[in-house]
Order: sequence, then C-alpha cells, then structure tokens
Amino acid sequence: MLEEEFDFIMEVLESELRPYRDSHHVYRKLPEKGRAHEDILTEMNELAIRERTKWHSGYVSGAVYNGDDSHIDFLNEVYSINSQANPLHPDIWPSAIKYEAEIVAMTASLFGGGDDGVSSVCGTVSSGGTESIMLAMRAYRDWARTEKGIAEPQIVAPASAHAAFEKAAQCFDMELVQVGLDSDWRVDVEAMNNAISDRTAVIVGSAPSFPHGMIDPIEELSDLALERGIGLHVDSCLGGFILPFARRLGRRVPPADFSLPGVTSLSADTHKFGYAAKGSSVILYRDALLRRYQMYTTTNWMGGLYYSPTFAGSRPGALSAECWAAMLAFGEDGYLKATKSILDTADQIKEGISHINGIRILGDPLWVISFTSDEMDIYAVADAMTRRGWSLNGLQNPPAVHICITLRHTIEGVAERFVNDLAESAEEVSNSPGTMGVMTPIYGMAGAVDTRGEVHELLLRYADIQFKT
Ligand SMILES: Cc1ncc(COP(=O)(O)O)c(C=O)c1O
Repeated sequence: MLEEEFDFIMEVLESELRPYRDSHHVYRKLPEKGRAHEDILTEMNELAIRERTKWHSGYVSGAVYNGDDSHIDFLNEVYSINSQANPLHPDIWPSAIKYEAEIVAMTASLFGGGDDGVSSVCGTVSSGGTESIMLAMRAYRDWARTEKGIAEPQIVAPASAHAAFEKAAQCFDMELVQVGLDSDWRVDVEAMNNAISDRTAVIVGSAPSFPHGMIDPIEELSDLALERGIGLHVDSCLGGFILPFARRLGRRVPPADFSLPGVTSLSADTHKFGYAAKGSSVILYRDALLRRYQMYTTTNWMGGLYYSPTFAGSRPGALSAECWAAMLAFGEDGYLKATKSILDTADQIKEGISHINGIRILGDPLWVISFTSDEMDIYAVADAMTRRGWSLNGLQNPPAVHICITLRHTIEGVAERFVNDLAESAEEVSNSPGTMGVMTPIYGMAGAVDTRGEVHELLLRYADIQFKT
C-alpha cells in the first residue's frame, strides 16, 4: 500500500518535469561540437516562455516578488555590467565590496541600526535566507562555546520557524528545541521561557513566520533573551522589506528589530520583497563581536592567508550589484508604494476568503494568508486550485494552505480571480464529500511518528528524480 502511494506521488511529481525532457534533447555528455549562441538562446527562450505565464500572471504564491518586465530588464543590464565580479578579490573588484557594505548599511538603517555611522549594527550579505540563518546559527554556536563555555549549544525556536533552523542544527551539530504556538499562531512565550536551558545559545522569533505570516512577540522574546543572557535572532527574511514600510504606512506592526535591546541578530532577504534577483540576503548583528564568529579565517593554508565571510568562497558579485541597484531604484518611496499595494491586495483577498463557506483564515496575518477548513480536506481544495492553474503552498500541523501576496497579485483582476477560484474549489470539494487531496495521505504519514521515516525516504526519492536525465 505504501509503495503504491509512493509510486503514485512520484508519478505526479515526475509528470511536472517530463514535458521538458520529452520535447528537448537530453544531454548526458558534452556536445561533441560547441553549439551556436543563437541556437542555445532559442532553446532556453522556449523553455522559459512556457514557465513564464504562470508566475508572470500572478498564479504563484511567493516565489517571484516583483517580476515586472522593466525591473527585470534593468536588473539584467546591471548583471551584464558586473558579470565577472567576485567579492573574494577586493583588489580586483572594490566596487563589489562597496555595493555589499552599502547594502548592509541601508538594510541596517531599516531595523533601528541607524544610518549615522555611529550604530554598532553590522552584518554581511549572503546568498539567501537559509544561508543568512545558517551563518547566524553557526556564529551563535561558536560564540556560546567560546564566550560561555557551552560545549553543546542549543537553538530554541518556535515550531513555525523556517526549516533553515533545523538544517543549521543538523549541519552544525546543535540541538534544536521546538516550542509550540499560542492560539494566534505566535510562539508561546511561557513555553519558550520553560524551554530555555543553561545550554541555550540563542532563541528565535519570526517576523513574520513562513507558514502563517504571523509575527512572534519579539518584544517579550527580547526581555527573555536579556534576562537569560542569551542571543535572540529575528528571522525577518520574509518580512524585512515589508514591515518597516507597513509601519510607516500606519499599519499596526509590533517592534521586531534592534530598537529592542535583546535582539542580537536579524535576517532580511533582499531577494524577496527587496526585489533583488535571487541569490541575495542580509544578515545583521547588534555588534561586530558576534559577526566575527561568522567569519572563516585560515593562516596555514598552502594557498596563502584566506578569509571568507560566508560559506561560499568565490561569489557572484553581479548579484550584489543587482541588489544594490534594486535598492537604489526603489528607494523609500518605491518600497512604500509597493508595500501599500501588497497590503491593500492582501486585505481584499482576506475579505474575499472570509465570505467563502467552510474556509477560515488562521490568525490575523498581514500579507501571508494561511487558510484551512473544518469541513473538508484543505489539500483537496489546494488540488482543485492547482487544476485552475494556481501554485499555492501546502502546510501541515495543522493541515492548511497559504498564499504569500507579492507584486504579481497586485495586477488588476488577480485578487478577484484568486477569491473566485477558491470559492469554486471549496464548493467543488464540499459537493463531493470524502474527496481527499493527492498529498493528504503523505501529510498524514509525516505527522505520525512511526511513518515519518517513510516520508523522509519519499523526499529523498523526489530529490533523486530531479537529477535524473
Ligand atoms: C521566514 C523565512 N525564513 C527563511 C526563509 C528561507 O529563505 P530562502 O528560501 O531564501 O533560503 C524563508 C523563505 O521563504 C522564510 O519565509
């Protein structure tokens, strides 16, 4: 039974990859003779055009945060000017170093870091949210070992915190202690207090969390961190370039930055609502001591003295150039305008969902809207949305689905289309009682302790098929 279910799910997942493999030559070795540029570009354009409609016309949750043609053209031009740059060589590309230092300073200024050159808030750029989080967690591990004598440091994080924290714990041999949420889908502060031990290096709060888009009570976590003498990382990867502007627009946004004395680090993704190209994020620290624990240095390598701030050695300086250019092109007024239209669209969608029978929103989110149902299988509703062209995110514990609103959804007619399609999908499922989503049994197994191992295996098989030619 299990094998059959696995095979079925694999078949569904593989079917998404097959069209590309069936219609285009599959390279299993280098072509004997190099192909003409023109020819390669034609093939790539064919592949990209097929995928474009879906994200460009706003059918996708998150993923493409800007996607405007003129913005993309601008970033592409910036890339082409800087395509050879590598910040590993500051002597050859000092411009890449300038861009990165200014990205960090501009980002810090959004989070109570101050733009006066006096504040101690500092940081580095990284390749994305996961890398920013992993860099910070490794820094806390080594800080805790060195400064506090904790041999086996712990991370205490909300159950809703991003998977990157678990990845960091696995990679850096740390223990991750997960804490439950309150009825508002924010971390339970009392439970977090109880979970902290003398091995805790850092506690985590999300602003907001990926699953439910809710902002953890960072102010209370800050008090807790100060009281216990430990670090507090605010994961604002998703919200970093929305919340500061939402606040200025008069939205009720609780403090979640360095203005709170217990906040010791914060991650904010420029490649999400900063509208930079993919491969860009910022990790900030309250002071340079913690940042030092992020750096890798070696003095005895035959290749010479070596230092790198992130996990990669050579890095694409062009991505930092693009990020810098995106931030300058938007400026405060651009981010304010973009944030306003995203929040207004989210309001319209939340209002629409509130009138759909059988569907309810979890918590009171700003623009990452998760919803579930007490009457029907929400994964079956998600499948019905997939048949209507949507690509939403499935959540679990409890079963739910979310849409993260981006600038693609602010286009005329997209919000209405989402609400209409969701209403139709919910009606379709509720008219066929017992309908189950394709992923329902798998999520069920993932939630049960004795079948979790099988679901790990399923994910590994999924990874294997992605690299099959
Ligand atoms: C809250 C949060 N943290 C971290 C990440 C990880 O970011 P990335 O996918 O860029 O590694 C995400 C991604 O959606 C996120 O929403």
